Amino acid sequence: MGVNSSIAYRELQANPFRPWAARITSITQLTDKERLFEFRLIDEVVRDAFDFEAGQFMELSIFGVGEAPISISSAPSKQGFIELCVRNSGTVTGALHEKQCGDIVGLRGPFGNGFPFEEMKGHDVLLVAGGLGIAPLKSLINHIHDERHEFGKVTILLGARNPGEILFHEEFKMWKHREDFDLIMTVDQPDDTWDGDVGLVTKLFDKIELDPKNTYGAICGPPVMYRYVIEEMRKKNLDVDHIFMSFERRMKCGIGMCGHCGVGHQYACIDGPVFSYWEAMNLQEAM
Ligand SMILES: Cc1cc2nc3c(=O)[nH]c(=O)nc-3n(C[C@H](O)[C@H](O)[C@H](O)COP(=O)(O)OP(=O)(O)OC[C@H]3O[C@@H](n4cnc5c(N)ncnc54)[C@H](O)[C@@H]3O)c2cc1C
Ligand code: FES
Repeated sequence: MGVNSSIAYRELQANPFRPWAARITSITQLTDKERLFEFRLIDEVVRDAFDFEAGQFMELSIFGVGEAPISISSAPSKQGFIELCVRNSGTVTGALHEKQCGDIVGLRGPFGNGFPFEEMKGHDVLLVAGGLGIAPLKSLINHIHDERHEFGKVTILLGARNPGEILFHEEFKMWKHREDFDLIMTVDQPDDTWDGDVGLVTKLFDKIELDPKNTYGAICGPPVMYRYVIEEMRKKNLDVDHIFMSFERRMKCGIGMCGHCGVGHQYACIDGPVFSYWEAMNLQEAM
């Protein structure tokens, strides 16, 4: 990091409430409700200093409307741009969906912790995503892809309600044919176009083999999914401190000041959103 960059980085940290202006550089419609937005921070110095870990999130602000926490979907190795996959689910996300390429929004962050990428190196990895949970996991998958030689076997299990709701479908169809990634997709309700597996993502555990002492698990999806996926991972003898999950809680400030995102005695925004199962087991009402 150069001198100017470190000044910008200090500024970033000095006022974590200040959103940085970011221009929308591309918009891709993924499903009826979800779009992938690519942003470029306008201030060159801030852009150069910007760094994050897979699993962290940004506070997206639409000026005059409000803010919402959104996971970063792009890999840290993608320099200069930030991708957010956003479901149109309310006030802020709805206002973002009305924006066009070239429009300016605010971004502050990155906040929270990430998946333990360095700790995972040298091991096999099992990634399990349900629905929109693929948004933060995609950052981790692409990061692993960029340093593929550092990892052993990489298995990805993806679940969605129906084929129309699978995010990044085209990209994953391509990945399915890669020899260095084992990717299995399943849907609850198939249609005529679907020739993959049918059923909940937990059903796919019958199809995979793991080396439990050498594997790290990462989970992201709707809250109801966690208990059942963890059960399957434990049946495969994965250690409790080798299983990581990203928690979604109602967040406001994103920096541990407002108290909205309490999980037991911790805050999901600063102590998480990624917790190990070992940590979650010791947090009241975590799951
Ligand atoms: C760490 C983190 C990462 C997230 N990553 C993404 C992402 O990558 N993509 C994405 O589309 N969304 C993500 N979300 C969810 C997103 O923040 C909420 O959907 C968003 O706050 C909605 O804002 P809004 O103003 O559009 O909706 P609002 O108008 O505030 O709310 C719309 C509806 O959603 C409910 N709601 C709002 N926030 C949450 C929440 N956190 N959990 C459950 N229900 C909620 C409200 O009660 C209301 O019914 C993430 C949330 C967190 C905490
Ligand atoms: S969002 Fe305010 S304390 Fe976590």
